[in-house]
Amino acid sequence: MGKDVIIACDFDSAEKTFEFLDKFTGKKPFVKIGMELYYAEGPAIVREIKARGHKIFLDLKLHDIPTTVKKSMAVLSRLDVDMCNLHAAGTVRMMEAAIEGLTRPDGSRPLLIAVTQLTSTDGESMKNDLLIDRPLDEVVIHYAKNAARSGLDGVVCSPLEAGKIHENCGEKFLTVTPGVRFADGDKGDQKRVTTPAEAKRIGSDYIVVGRPITQAADPVAAYERCIAEFVD
Ligand code: C5P
Repeated sequence: MGKDVIIACDFDSAEKTFEFLDKFTGKKPFVKIGMELYYAEGPAIVREIKARGHKIFLDLKLHDIPTTVKKSMAVLSRLDVDMCNLHAAGTVRMMEAAIEGLTRPDGSRPLLIAVTQLTSTDGESMKNDLLIDRPLDEVVIHYAKNAARSGLDGVVCSPLEAGKIHENCGEKFLTVTPGVRFADGDKGDQKRVTTPAEAKRIGSDYIVVGRPITQAADPVAAYERCIAEFVD
């Protein structure tokens, strides 16, 4: 797969989601369904968006014992999503079990990427809350290497980390990066942000963009602007 823009559909109902997606009459954007929308509407929302012709990143961030994750991933692969994810903190054994569960009888499977450390976690909370003393950057790279070793396809990370992750895990290892804002846009609660053009330069494979598109006066124009800066 080449570079693409993934729209984070952070809505709390199918109604609001379809009101938003109905604005896109031409190209069908790649969309991300997160916990909010999935917990509101269940697997039906995944099937409906898929039936409309969109690619789907199902962002449920699994983290449990290997057997539970394996069985849950088997269910998600039957939903025919294109990408899903888990927490690398669940260990290599959990990630290997996830790949097994996700692989369909014909050998195909959705892309599987790992969350290393959430971007809401900083060095201080890692040290005080999790008793992890190593520097955050080192932990992120170590978790990314564990994900690669487990057979995963990539990680969710800050665009600012994408270059270093490619250096350590290979150019083909995918970096999926939220925290994207237009140069003239509002940052909201994101702290370390880059523009779509910078994310392209640093080497992100996919950017995940929510509010700069969903809250824009003209969401289709905002999406096209992301495509023009990041893909074209
Ligand atoms: O609206 P905004 O562009 O900030 O949305 C970014 C999306 O990416 C949200 O769905 C958010 O939950 C998700 N995300 C993030 N940072 C991470 C992982 C996921 O912003 N580290």
